[in-house]
Amino acid sequence: MSQTNWADSTALDRRGRSSPAAAVGLAQAANPLLADHADQRTASPAIHTVALSKRYGKTFAVNSLSMTVQRGEVFGFLGPNGAGKTTVVKLLLGLARPTGGEGLVLGAPLGDRETRRQIGYLPELFRFQPLLTAREVLRLHCRLLALPKAAWKQQERAALQTIGLLERGDDRVGTFSKGMQQRLGLGVALLGNPTLVVLDEPTSALDPVGRHDVREIIRGLRESGSTVFLNTHLLEEAAHVCDRVAVIDKGRAIAIGALDELLGHHSRVRLKVGALNENWCHGLGRFGRWHRENEWIVVEGIDRSRIADLVDELVALGGRVEAVIPEHQSLEARFLELLGER
Ligand SMILES: Nc1ncnc2c1ncn2[C@@H]1O[C@H](COP(=O)(O)OP(=O)(O)OP(=O)(O)O)[C@@H](O)[C@H]1O
Ligand SMILES: [Mg+2]
Repeated sequence: MSQTNWADSTALDRRGRSSPAAAVGLAQAANPLLADHADQRTASPAIHTVALSKRYGKTFAVNSLSMTVQRGEVFGFLGPNGAGKTTVVKLLLGLARPTGGEGLVLGAPLGDRETRRQIGYLPELFRFQPLLTAREVLRLHCRLLALPKAAWKQQERAALQTIGLLERGDDRVGTFSKGMQQRLGLGVALLGNPTLVVLDEPTSALDPVGRHDVREIIRGLRESGSTVFLNTHLLEEAAHVCDRVAVIDKGRAIAIGALDELLGHHSRVRLKVGALNENWCHGLGRFGRWHRENEWIVVEGIDRSRIADLVDELVALGGRVEAVIPEHQSLEARFLELLGER
């Protein structure tokens, strides 16, 4: 299958509407081997939406969102409070119905019940029955997922081990701290080795150790071939684990791509240069804005491809270059810039 058929999000049906069904048709036409439905589903992206929208009264919670998440990706969904992140997750899982546009998850229409079994989900507002033990909660979800009974015990144990609650498995959830309950929620999302794991702010209640653990779990999921859709407003979290991110605001995607691309090619470079005459520094202006910070020269807004030229220039001027440290624009600064750029 040609991935561009999915990525361009422009598949149209006969009436000219954007249509995931038409997109499936395109994929099939591109590869005649994709004859049967099951193959077609496996070959589809993990998530594909075309002009997906959700309106509550006059408010567009999601406004014409078109995006594609490939299988095996860790995809970050970044946005400020009220941007529409949770609403998108609800649409993808069939917990809310779109008011416009369409989507496919694991090759099936939004809300398809069979497909739901292949999706692990940690909701934003997790609540578990306080009188049940952690094991009982996990077992209940094994049953809801219709996992074979013989597998429950192993699944339960693996989940408790992964989330670091093996010792507390027989304690009632009502006695758990909020962070422990969130870990349990993550354990529930991992049951049955899901093909797609959707995590809505998975670290909101976690301490730094917990956040680190969640990152490790996400990396483990990627290694095992699962796709992860991660809602977060924590830029650092996205930076640590995501292959690509979508930045959304007011229901619209304002940027989609690898974080590196979104941060742009312009960066800062910090140089330590000995034996450089102060007057010579003025020639640096053509590389970017520069200033001194103690013994460092900091050049801002420099195209990364020109850093080597800058070093050559300094050496030609008789400077002894002792250190060159390229720096990204800070994530926060770029994020605010993106939000302001609309
Ligand atoms: N059931 C609802 N009824 C009316 N408006 C809603 C409903 N659910 C969400 N909204 C509105 O849709 C917008 C997006 O909300 P959403 O919960 O998706 O944001 P979010 O990005 O998940 O925010 P947060 O980071 O705070 O979790 C908000 O303006 C919100 O008020
Ligand atoms: Mg939310």
